[in-house]
Amino acid sequence: MHVSIRPDAAAATKEVVIQIAALVANRANVVLGLATGGTMEPVYDGLIAAHRAGLSFAGTTTFNLDEYVGLGAGHPNAYRSYMQARFFDHVDIDPTRIHLPDGHDADPAAAALRYEALIARHGPIDLQLLGLGRNGHIAFNEPTSSLGSRTRVKLLMPGTRAANSRFFDHPDQTPRLSITMGIATILEARKVLLLALGADKAEPVAQMVEGPISALCPGTALQMHPATRVVLDMAAGTGLIHAEYYRAVEESGL
Ligand code: F6R
Repeated sequence: MHVSIRPDAAAATKEVVIQIAALVANRANVVLGLATGGTMEPVYDGLIAAHRAGLSFAGTTTFNLDEYVGLGAGHPNAYRSYMQARFFDHVDIDPTRIHLPDGHDADPAAAALRYEALIARHGPIDLQLLGLGRNGHIAFNEPTSSLGSRTRVKLLMPGTRAANSRFFDHPDQTPRLSITMGIATILEARKVLLLALGADKAEPVAQMVEGPISALCPGTALQMHPATRVVLDMAAGTGLIHAEYYRAVEESGL
């Protein structure tokens, strides 16, 4: 795991935008895995700015990590709506290349299986963008998710629902279920780029990078991925025992 600690959130976000933009600029037909959440909002702002400066997403295929189950089509808090409003509507991406799990299918379990098959058909994902939950989740793989899990329906933990209720008018409106890529699905991406910002991510970051691999902290599964880069601001890195070593590795250029 390569750990980059930047002075602040803006610098960490810029780093992630540069990595994604460089991949899209230098390779044809890139397959990107995308994430939602508060951390990612400025990442999409940065990618839109890169598009306005000339970067084209016309040949890019995208797969989002997850989607709520049960929000109606076009619901403003559906991840599809988030992605349209914050990114897709502002760039030249081909709508037929955009993929999210279908959270309003009458049979969400079948929709999850279809999504896994679709990723297998278009994949592997070249670069999977990830955030990290306060409880260590990646996508909606909550603690105790199987490290071998595939795309499926997951029940959100109360703490995750509480955290995400900030985006809803009333906490009760926050969905209980999601369709999420599994941990094994995520681990098949060629590269993983995880962005975590702020003091409330310090504990899960420390667990993910330096803790024992455990389903209790799903992010620790990334320790088994051969090409994961974790980008942090100073606040999110405060729990790391070996921060000086990660800085030395960066300075060495390895
Ligand atoms: C979003 C996702 C989640 C978030 C995580 C962090 O698609 O899969 O795992 O990345 O909950 O969310 P924020 O950035 O809002 O703290």
